[in-house]
Amino acid sequence: MKRLLAAVMALTIVGLTACGDSAGGDAADSRERRPDISSSTAEVNETQSETASDEQSQESSQDSETEASQSSSETSEETESSEETTGSGILIAYFSLGENNGISGDVDADAGASVTTLNGSVTGNTGIIADYIRQATGGDMFSILTEYYYPESYDETLTVARDELSNGERPALASHIENLDQYDTIFIGFPNWWADMPAPMDTFFEEYDFSGKRIIPFVTSGGSGFSDTLDEIAAYEPDATLLEGLSIRDYSVEEAQGEVNDWIAGLGL
Ligand SMILES: Cc1cc2nc3c(=O)[nH]c(=O)nc-3n(C[C@H](O)[C@H](O)[C@H](O)COP(=O)(O)O)c2cc1C
Repeated sequence: MKRLLAAVMALTIVGLTACGDSAGGDAADSRERRPDISSSTAEVNETQSETASDEQSQESSQDSETEASQSSSETSEETESSEETTGSGILIAYFSLGENNGISGDVDADAGASVTTLNGSVTGNTGIIADYIRQATGGDMFSILTEYYYPESYDETLTVARDELSNGERPALASHIENLDQYDTIFIGFPNWWADMPAPMDTFFEEYDFSGKRIIPFVTSGGSGFSDTLDEIAAYEPDATLLEGLSIRDYSVEEAQGEVNDWIAGLGL
């Protein structure tokens, strides 16, 4: 009953118009494959000395980070050895639609709802929050990337995502953490999709064992917040310690840096 209510709420919040037919419809069939990524690991935070109060350099660092993130989806030979990480012990793993629908340049009106452009680079709401966390913690960024892009059209993505979730699909991932043992604290962020986590997050949680590590979840949404995903994460990772998460509404992402900083300060990392 609770799930049903959540789903009905999601329908209202997302402003869903018409959805196509069920599993494996045309939208899913036409999905484009991401250019090959032979190996990718956690993105290196090249501005390790930057702190949350370093607002002055925020723009340029966001720029370089999102560019780094974007390039990870476009190059074929990115391989970073574990020695190259910052050594902070903190990883910020996140999934964001804007880095998973193949839109890299101009954003048309149809796709605009799914994409946020930050200083010329494409990410999404969750990517922006992840970058706030990076600035506050000095952690390494890791963008969870799917092998196949979601459609450029937001409405088609709604349908594809809904079908993936209702079919229990596990979309293949194109990015992988090669140096997990270097991290004891993992921020994990995703958008709420249909009162759930996006299906690629299920793939992600099934790929890694976070036993003995601290998981700190964060979500962005149109209003549903975490829905039941905290229970899901606890079930996937029973031997990890789940710390207090943060939920941010999509329309307030741009102004959320202070809230993110307060939350991180309260975690006592
Ligand atoms: C496929 C899909 C399903 C969504 N379902 C919900 C939902 O059930 N509840 C909600 O509050 N927001 C929902 N949203 C809105 C997103 O959670 C929200 O805009 C989020 O901030 C997007 O993050 P991103 O830009 O990092 O992908 C949905 C968005 C998409 C694309």
